[in-house]
Amino acid sequence: MKKILLIAVILSSSSVIADEHQEFTLQSQAAIKEFASTLKGSLVAAMKSSGPVGAINVCNNVAPTIASELSKKYDMKIARTSLKVRNPDNAPDNWEKHVLNTFEERKSEGESVKTLTFSEKITGDGSQEMRMMKAIPTGEVCLICHGSNIAEPVQASLDKLYPDDQATGFSLGDIRGAFTVRKKSNP
Ligand code: HEC
Repeated sequence: MKKILLIAVILSSSSVIADEHQEFTLQSQAAIKEFASTLKGSLVAAMKSSGPVGAINVCNNVAPTIASELSKKYDMKIARTSLKVRNPDNAPDNWEKHVLNTFEERKSEGESVKTLTFSEKITGDGSQEMRMMKAIPTGEVCLICHGSNIAEPVQASLDKLYPDDQATGFSLGDIRGAFTVRKKSNP
């Protein structure tokens, strides 16, 4: 009888863990989807109305604003990062750097950049956190500001705003970076 009870307890607690992970994954996917489509919408609209130099403003101001609005809406921290950042505020921490490196490995082993994701529960001193990342592929439009042949006025504008810019020289299909999501979970 005791044995059955024990098994029941183990089973139910592991399903709680599975549910929690599943819920986090679903929520992160929704947040990332909304972040990606809102950003892309603003970027494309700004490129149309004010060209690439004007659109730099969208990435500079609007991207962090959308990130903080969605972080509130979904009650988790959502941001963008990369192994080669334009804005040093977006620099990856050790966990993110490691995941980005494994994304590069998985890509070279043939996985599609479009579906590269990773999530993990991290247990620290007295706290637990769920983390997830999703790779961002470099598309055609991205090359205008992240490629190898950046037009003179665009480059001048980037130089002014980002003297330590590392986010150039990307090619179509490269991993430009990743969305990164984190949420403290119940210990
Ligand atoms: C009009 C110029 C422009 C275009 C086009 C553009 N970006 Fe950016 N991108 C920027 C700027 C400026 C930043 C820095 C934003 C900031 O200050 O947080 C940036 C930052 C990023 C970051 C955050 C990491 C970092 O380097 O700081 C990612 C990821 C990114 N861009 C991906 C893309 C992708 C993918 C595309 C194509 C869909 C794209 N960008 C198109 C200008 C551009």
